[in-house]
Amino acid sequence: MSEFHVDPSKGVVGRLTVPGDKSISHRALMLGAIADGTTHIEGFLESEDCLATLAALEHLGVTVHRPGTGKVEVVGVGLRGLRAPAAPLDMRNAGTAMRLFMGLLAPQAFESVLVGDESLMRRPMERAAQPLRAMGARIDTDGGRPPVRIGAGARLRGQRLSTEVASAQVKSALLLAGLYAEGSTTVIEPAPTRDHTERMLQLFGCELASRGGRTTLQPPPRLQATRIVVPGDFSSAAFFIVAGCIAGAGPLLVEGVGINPTRTGLLELLSLMGADLRLINHRNCGTEPVADIEVRPAPLQGIDAPARLVPLAIDELPAFFVAAACASGVTTVSGAAELRVKESDRIAAMARGLAALGIRAEPRPDGIRIEGGRLTGGVVESLGDHRVAMSFAVAALRAAGPVGIRDVANVATSFPGFAKTARRVGIAIEERESAGSEPDRG
Ligand code: S3P
Repeated sequence: MSEFHVDPSKGVVGRLTVPGDKSISHRALMLGAIADGTTHIEGFLESEDCLATLAALEHLGVTVHRPGTGKVEVVGVGLRGLRAPAAPLDMRNAGTAMRLFMGLLAPQAFESVLVGDESLMRRPMERAAQPLRAMGARIDTDGGRPPVRIGAGARLRGQRLSTEVASAQVKSALLLAGLYAEGSTTVIEPAPTRDHTERMLQLFGCELASRGGRTTLQPPPRLQATRIVVPGDFSSAAFFIVAGCIAGAGPLLVEGVGINPTRTGLLELLSLMGADLRLINHRNCGTEPVADIEVRPAPLQGIDAPARLVPLAIDELPAFFVAAACASGVTTVSGAAELRVKESDRIAAMARGLAALGIRAEPRPDGIRIEGGRLTGGVVESLGDHRVAMSFAVAALRAAGPVGIRDVANVATSFPGFAKTARRVGIAIEERESAGSEPDRG
């Protein structure tokens, strides 16, 4: 099992870039696979999650070339060109891959079975299966969890579907299925979620209208291959943004970060706490907005996180909890029950870890209450969750002694090279190996 060992450090200074966006990399592969022609992707995230999607597409008969670092060429087989896989498709740790593949595979002429690692096999899949069934799909789960069995040859009908949870994965599964449905598909979300699928479908030539949490897709005759440049992942940048806020010294510049407004709730949350953040050098990366983010240390004040920001910061909440632990006063988050069904139960994992570092953190069914204070050194369990592991690596910046973080190999699912990048800007982090797993060699 690999562990991080992090010593307190004076600050985070300098500039860095983060690897490509995970959500966008998954989608670029999948849409490229069913387009006509070859899609050229640059800035692709070569992480375990995205490589699981890539391997699954190869098992579905798609040829993928990797001509250089971050470069991928997907030879599209057209909407009807996927082939039956010879074995169950392994999504490993990737919830996004599993839920999006449910939508993509539901309308195919062949059967498929989706499985994953221990964490993914525990995660809820009915949220995508149910509305897909309403479209006519034949999908079985095992009591709501994987394996997901998808029947062959379902004829899907476009529907008006309201999703129960605010989930971009569910929305995206339904839009992918909608590509094959008879008639238009409308997805209505309880709150806006990341819209990368919508933006990218339009780039592939699909007709789509999206407004106020309601998206309507007309099934296209074909998708046209395109070129996609993947921006830096805001969710990976988040760890360094929080580090820059709580550090003893700065400034830190995180360059080339995707700032799609459906992803950047963390910036608003930190600003409400008094953070010193500046977005500069705004530009576009294809259909996605990008900027450099400059962060300087500032005294933070606890807040009650506004409910509307929760879905817009869903993956960044573990890092936000670290900011809350370093703020003066109390921070509360509610309406975040989704955190309990991520790669780990992130409410429990963060509350336990913060408590191990001397912070009063009270887990609640749908959120947390954190009293800012002085962090001690200690040992925390990441529960094999990449975002929990990286959040505590950042927390260690402010701890009074060394922090050990256990079970961190899964950092490679979203941020290969995290430790190396962190060291470069001044975080005193080392990865240590105990028997049985591979280190994050960076
Ligand atoms: C993702 C959507 C979010 C997020 C996940 C990636 C996506 O999940 O937590 O890391 O790429 O669509 P939900 O849509 O289930 O909230």
